[in-house]
Amino acid sequence: MSVTNFTGGCSTTPLDAPLTKVTVPALAEMKRQGKLISALTAYDYSSSRLADEAGIDLLLVGDSLAMVVLGYENTLSVTVDEMLHHTRAVRRAVRRALIVADMPFGSYHGSVAEGVANAVRFIKEAGAEAVKIEGPRVELVRALAEAEIPVVAHLGLTPQSIHRMGGYRVQARTAETVLALKADALALADAGAGAVVLEGVPREVAAEITAELPVPTIGIGAGPDCDGQILVFHDLLNLTFAPAAKFVRRYADAGALMRSAIEHYREDVERRVFPSDEESYHLPKAARQALDSLQNTGA
Ligand code: KIV
Repeated sequence: MSVTNFTGGCSTTPLDAPLTKVTVPALAEMKRQGKLISALTAYDYSSSRLADEAGIDLLLVGDSLAMVVLGYENTLSVTVDEMLHHTRAVRRAVRRALIVADMPFGSYHGSVAEGVANAVRFIKEAGAEAVKIEGPRVELVRALAEAEIPVVAHLGLTPQSIHRMGGYRVQARTAETVLALKADALALADAGAGAVVLEGVPREVAAEITAELPVPTIGIGAGPDCDGQILVFHDLLNLTFAPAAKFVRRYADAGALMRSAIEHYREDVERRVFPSDEESYHLPKAARQALDSLQNTGA
């Protein structure tokens, strides 16, 4: 296992307590040892810090932030600068997890050189430790690996291809498309991808790819046989405003909890119950007396 004692940042863990930092080589070691990888999306300081302290191995600053944080209809509108802004917030929060930044639509779809230049920004300007790119872009993955930038590939249902796919549809459901997906996954691993996200593919297909690939697969809507799983933070906690996809498990209803707390606060404000006297600052006695005498003498 690749081990780095990472002592920077702020956490409830004492600063001198060594942490086993998760790295891309450590993910490969986890696969070899049969240890499953937990991954979650992250977009801001507080939620990333919670996820890191909860022991999540990989935090992805996903371009899903376009939808769940910024309110866009799909992931296509988010820009490199917006992704950098959120990646920096996650970087400030995280001590142990591997931080992967999603390259947004348009940032690597032109030349390989442009893709590498944009990836460098995520590492250099935002502190990401790897980037994720969608689709079988073997040449770009090889160039990134040569530029010392770890890459997580993403195959199957790739949301940035929504217009080509004609919607968010489960992929690799025919013999030909299964073979093509397998070949893509192997070619990406061969080109240097450190892990492959498999999204929206049949369980059986993900299981076969996982068994054949030398690097870990991380599934979302790809069944339980992958080397790890990833969910969108807002899906896990029911902070979305749409019905959940089949593969989502809601681990808590934070949406209902937050709504009820906010309603309670509004009611307390409207009834002048918040803040109470105990929640107020008080003028020191001497200042009260001085003020009264000044006001009485008309000064
Ligand atoms: O952007 C994202 O959230 C993702 C994950 C769902 C894999 O790409």
